[in-house]
Amino acid sequence: MPTTILSADSGVGGLSVVQEIRKLVPGQRHVYLCDNAFYPYGLRADDELLQHFLEVMSAAIDISAPQIVVVACNTISTICLPKLRAITKLPVVGVVPAIKPAATLSKKHVIGILATPATIDRPYTDKLINEFAANCRVLKVGSAELVDMAEAKLRGIAPDSARISRILEPFFDRPTAEQPDVIVLACTHFPLLSEELAATGPKETQWIDSGGAIARRVQELLSDVGQSSARHAKDFALVTGQVDDPLAEAMKNFGFRAVRPLPAKR
Ligand code: DGL
Repeated sequence: MPTTILSADSGVGGLSVVQEIRKLVPGQRHVYLCDNAFYPYGLRADDELLQHFLEVMSAAIDISAPQIVVVACNTISTICLPKLRAITKLPVVGVVPAIKPAATLSKKHVIGILATPATIDRPYTDKLINEFAANCRVLKVGSAELVDMAEAKLRGIAPDSARISRILEPFFDRPTAEQPDVIVLACTHFPLLSEELAATGPKETQWIDSGGAIARRVQELLSDVGQSSARHAKDFALVTGQVDDPLAEAMKNFGFRAVRPLPAKR
């Protein structure tokens, strides 16, 4: 019998993580929390975001009875993990920006970090930089606009390459020797734009994200955790805000045919 994995994000970004988990360990049961009522997380104040996230996650855990919880969002992972682990006994997998592998891969010792405006300024991110990339020059770009573009792309609106070039100027509008050769996609929305991003920078630039690492952690946990009692239960998405047709279609394209509102906690 499959294991139920509950993954959560502010919108469609976490679907990039679910995709990696499905690829590595097929046959599990997935529930996806799309907390679009609070989108975008990257422009929220830390305290209100944390309090809200703990509330919606505990409601989603009650409804979906998962064996593994995946916080498929860098912006909330960088502040919520100790508190979330304090309110549930379930194993919680969070996203850590891939700064360590980027520093190891970079031949130029110049790396870029592309994240939401919140993640880019977090002490958690600075700690990772100090710990693992002290030998690198680190260029940071925070963009809420790119998150919107990933949301729009999954709703059928093609990203504008001129806008992407402008957002990435701090990385590439400088002498070649000073441009990063590895860029960390430290927002789960950004792998959804991987083709467009790659088309913007020099072709030797490596763009790395944490989806594969999360999937490997889930694979490790699978042997320790129980299985779902819901033998034939189907995958479904829980949504906190409005669901229009393009969002329902995007969810369907990622295997979530059923989309239900997350009832507000009383
Ligand atoms: N997908 C989220 C992340 O990884 C953030 C998106 C948002 O700002 O809501 O940071």
